[in-house]
Amino acid sequence: MDRCYGLAFATPGVTVAIIETVGLRKEYTRFRGDPVVAVQELDLSIDGPGVYGFLGPNGSGKTTTIRCLLGLIAPSAGQVTVLGEDVSHLERVIPRIGALVETPKFFPTFSGRKNLKMFARVAKVPDTRVDEVLEIVGLAGRSGDKFSSYSLGMKQRLAVAATLLKDPQLIILDEPANGLDPAGIVEIRQLIRQLAADGKTVFVSSHQLAEVQQTCDVLTIINDGALVRTGPVSELLTDAGERTLRVTIDDPAGALAVLTAAGFTARLASVADGIDVDIDPGQGANVTHHLAAAGRYLRALEPQGATLESAFLHLTGNAGGEVR
Ligand SMILES: Nc1ncnc2c1ncn2[C@@H]1O[C@H](COP(=O)(O)OP(=O)(O)O)[C@@H](O)[C@H]1O
Ligand SMILES: [Mg+2]
Repeated sequence: MDRCYGLAFATPGVTVAIIETVGLRKEYTRFRGDPVVAVQELDLSIDGPGVYGFLGPNGSGKTTTIRCLLGLIAPSAGQVTVLGEDVSHLERVIPRIGALVETPKFFPTFSGRKNLKMFARVAKVPDTRVDEVLEIVGLAGRSGDKFSSYSLGMKQRLAVAATLLKDPQLIILDEPANGLDPAGIVEIRQLIRQLAADGKTVFVSSHQLAEVQQTCDVLTIINDGALVRTGPVSELLTDAGERTLRVTIDDPAGALAVLTAAGFTARLASVADGIDVDIDPGQGANVTHHLAAAGRYLRALEPQGATLESAFLHLTGNAGGEVR
């Protein structure tokens, strides 16, 4: 299949987006009640190697979007193009896509290697490729051990190895860090970075801010199925960081009441004696003035280094819920 369609997309000089959606919408019809709008008017454009994060709280439409990208479900409206092909012709490019949407079923009593060999047979790739992918995911030394003896991180790396068998250009991973312990999360993060360093495009969804902050180059944030913001991680952080001042003061709860009464948007900070005020840091004198007028004198006033958490809260107005 690869060979027969090879010429269809390999037009010299023409660059095609790796993932592109225009006005993607997906509604799930229900037996009773209104349809559920899982994704609405979503525009995505992803190009070039790197790690592209797709961040949103649980239920925000990440898996639905990924299923549309892979042709597993049909969009209700909009266009989906992957590796330059409309999703209706996905068979032309599917050998160049590796995807992990659900955990593959591995046999617990077989070794990692034997499990992968079975996948390799289905994918029609030679056994030598099994050894290569085991090497890439760092499991070569444990490939003869039973799957059931693997740690969670190793099991997940084996799942990623299965997606690499056909040496895909695009790798789509739906919440690969979900359910992993901290060591497993680090392993997956390193693997994702390494794939990008090897020239792959990795599209990875997550509801974990810390996760994408450390792994991704470019981030798309969705909420309620709709695009909130997209851009390089560094840009999103800069945007969010300019608006928060950290006030250090005795009796922060009392000071918070004063600031709130004066019309500031403020909240207790995660550190003792701290309040975070959403304000242009250049307007810090205003904060000092209101506190001093109430007989409260602050000990420090400093602009906050941006975190993705503040970016997310700022961009979505979401009080946090599942996103941490
Ligand atoms: N098969 C389905 N039928 C009906 N509703 C669904 C189905 N799958 C997902 N949904 C709903 O669509 C929304 C988005 O879900 P999903 O794409 O799984 O989000 P995420 O992956 O971000 O957690 C949620 O409200 C979810 O309940
Ligand atoms: Mg999901």
